[in-house]
Amino acid sequence: MQYGYFDDDAREYVITRPDTPYPWINYLGSEEFFGLFSNTSGGYCFYRDARMLRLTRYRYNNAPADSGGRYFYLRDNNASGSVCECNAGTADIWSPSWMPMKSKLDRYECRHGMGYSRIFSSRNGLAFSQVSFVPLRDTCEIHKITLTNESNVDKNVDMFSFVEFCLWNANDDMTNFQRNFSIGEVEVEQLADTSRIYHKTEYRERRSHYAVWAVNVPVAGFDTDRQAFLGLYNGFDHPETVFKGEANNSVASGWAPVGSHHIKAKLSPGEAKTFVFVLGYCENPQDQKWERQNVINKKPANILMDKYGSPEAANKALAALNKYWEDLLKRFTVEADDKKMARMAGVWNQYQCMVTFNMSRSASYFESGIGRGMGFRDSNQDLLGFVHLVPERARSRILDIAATQFPDGSAYHQYQPLTKRGNNEIGSGFNDDPLWLICGVAAYIKETGDYGILDEKVPFDNDDKLADTLFVHLKRSFDFTVKNKGPHGLPLIGRADWNDCLNLNCFSSTPGESFQTTANYESGVAESVLIAAIFAFTGPDYVEICRRTNRNDEAEYAEKQISIITEAVNQHGWDGDWFVRAYDAYGKKIGSRECEDGKIFIESNGFAVMAGIGIEDGRAAKALDSVKEHLDTKYGIVLLQPAYKDYHLELGEVSSYPPGYKENAGIFCHNNPWVTIAETRLGRGNRAFETYTKICPAYREDDSDLRRMEPYVYAQMVAGKDAPRHGEAKNSWLTGTAAWTFVSISQYILGVRPVFDGLLVDPCIPSNMKGFTVTRHFRGADYRITVDNSAGVEKGIKSVTVDGIAHAGNVLPVFGDGKTHDVVVIMNA
Ligand code: GLC
Ligand code: GLC
Repeated sequence: MQYGYFDDDAREYVITRPDTPYPWINYLGSEEFFGLFSNTSGGYCFYRDARMLRLTRYRYNNAPADSGGRYFYLRDNNASGSVCECNAGTADIWSPSWMPMKSKLDRYECRHGMGYSRIFSSRNGLAFSQVSFVPLRDTCEIHKITLTNESNVDKNVDMFSFVEFCLWNANDDMTNFQRNFSIGEVEVEQLADTSRIYHKTEYRERRSHYAVWAVNVPVAGFDTDRQAFLGLYNGFDHPETVFKGEANNSVASGWAPVGSHHIKAKLSPGEAKTFVFVLGYCENPQDQKWERQNVINKKPANILMDKYGSPEAANKALAALNKYWEDLLKRFTVEADDKKMARMAGVWNQYQCMVTFNMSRSASYFESGIGRGMGFRDSNQDLLGFVHLVPERARSRILDIAATQFPDGSAYHQYQPLTKRGNNEIGSGFNDDPLWLICGVAAYIKETGDYGILDEKVPFDNDDKLADTLFVHLKRSFDFTVKNKGPHGLPLIGRADWNDCLNLNCFSSTPGESFQTTANYESGVAESVLIAAIFAFTGPDYVEICRRTNRNDEAEYAEKQISIITEAVNQHGWDGDWFVRAYDAYGKKIGSRECEDGKIFIESNGFAVMAGIGIEDGRAAKALDSVKEHLDTKYGIVLLQPAYKDYHLELGEVSSYPPGYKENAGIFCHNNPWVTIAETRLGRGNRAFETYTKICPAYREDDSDLRRMEPYVYAQMVAGKDAPRHGEAKNSWLTGTAAWTFVSISQYILGVRPVFDGLLVDPCIPSNMKGFTVTRHFRGADYRITVDNSAGVEKGIKSVTVDGIAHAGNVLPVFGDGKTHDVVVIMNA
């Protein structure tokens, strides 16, 4: 069943009932200030770092789900129909966003768009509309609320806003109650045209920032103490104050500071009133913190309200945000008969790539914002789907990531977004990490032609004294693999490779011990075929970079190393029908027919074929056929088979999951596009497209009861065939699936791929796809590429014309002239 539909013209997903199978969320914010926003107005916001600078509280894993948000309670004192089940006399009290009261609504609609969301609802002749967004380059959420009297009687309405403040450090906020219950502080300000609540906990000491929750009208009252507003034993669904109909003017001191405005609105029939709420982060210079003793300097809050505190100003800011997204998405557009593919590739997949670029794996409805920072490998891969959108931001991200690399080429597995420093708790030792830097930098150079980035001086281990050029970083990455090989000449795996859960030196038998940071048996022997394949895939880009910057000796050396590793894969990485996955600490194969469980894995097969290994002698086709035979399901390709039934000390976390979940034979969507890309290398467009569509959420929209996650974004995992709820997705939004599926559809299926010399066009599509049009912004010009497949082939090009003139080959030149160039490609085998 469906819970909504795509409005393609508006680039919105429209949710038509609030009780979705899981909260279906959106992200507000573009660069520094972000909000998570669910279809029932749940979620929270933060400035730059979801752990350290969290403005509002959110209760993860709570019952009911999705507890905490920007809530508006309505008390309609002149309801024309039946009034609420609650004990409020004739007044009708309800939640216009459905949660937290789960109010029955006469009308409900939530529209998630590009960086904004809208909620419309109505009940008993009172209509509510909310539009929520973060204005470009600013540090606040705007919630514009309009109440409309759709009845034919006068209405007296009380509206109560509600947010619950987080005491900034989200981890501490959930654990350190002995301190926290005594430190909460607020200020309240009521002026003629605005009413503001300031959350200033810890401002008296080392913080120089506070939060403001403001509305552009005078209020009838306010509350800032949670207990006063809700009542100690009430949930968000029964706020005592709203039922009483009158705010308490409570001023929080310790306990739990909240922000609630009580607004009285008189509405004659047909009349509408609009209110602009601003929830902002404000920072003062250290020496200008105070206006006078104990009174915070309100200047930054004044600036925010001056800028956004009117409906006209809010509309203008929203229009600017809309324009920003319109321009961004013009950089890659798709027209095709297959609407699902077109909307995903042209809009939603790119949107998700922006979100993963911004968030890495930090804050979603599955990532608490506390645990994981930016991942070295994750962020490098996220770049792949983002670099065409804002190359300048990709550039500075690359430099930040590289600065956390160690002098020997290895890398901190994660770093903190605020400090940009490597995370000591996780440390390093994931031996695939260094190679992703080459992959990210190559993608950036192919997109922009900016070889200058290679000369940037970048610290090692965040130490300026150790700084060297980015090129040297790449060399250290490359050499790290060369210098760290095991007995079969394959790269040592270290703590794990891309598969965080293949912990071959961990040997953990202690409950709770981290699989990722423990090495109880440093074998110095466990090897990864996947890392070898990644090396063989990205190595040639390193060679090209060397050639194009006149480092010919280095290029020759690198080529030699690539062939040595490729040879090791041929010798020790082939199992007869597919590629082996790894060798464990005893030198035994993983991902081989010799194994009882885990006979075949997806990763080494996808990546080896992507790297071109075995294409000439037929092993590549055999490997992909084996993947299809053993791993493919209706909902995508599972990571391995057979699932591990028991925990294996020598394998680590992969065998810790129940069969069918996560890395233990779940459909780990991230690596499905590797198989898609691999299929295109063999020219098998039908198969490539099939693997693409199986995990693509838009194709499963009418299956939402099983899939449960948002139909407009990819999820990290879908339960595999060994799991009871095969087909159920989890962990939507923050996943490398976003970048890789975008690469697979845009660069390999539709085949419009930046290469060092220009824009390559090499489609590999299903034979029944008649053709398509892609517009692509590339190095300062626009290419309008129309592909004609009336021949009904899967791959192969008969002719290319550029601006009406026959063009030799299929690499389009770099024009850089700010113009649009018409390209026509006729396919034929
Ligand atoms: C998660 C991690 C990623 C890892 C993958 C497989 O998505 O963020 O780094 O590669 O899991 O374990
Ligand atoms: C990745 C894996 C997950 C594992 C985690 C550890 O996210 O997907 O299974 O628990 O890494 O950091």
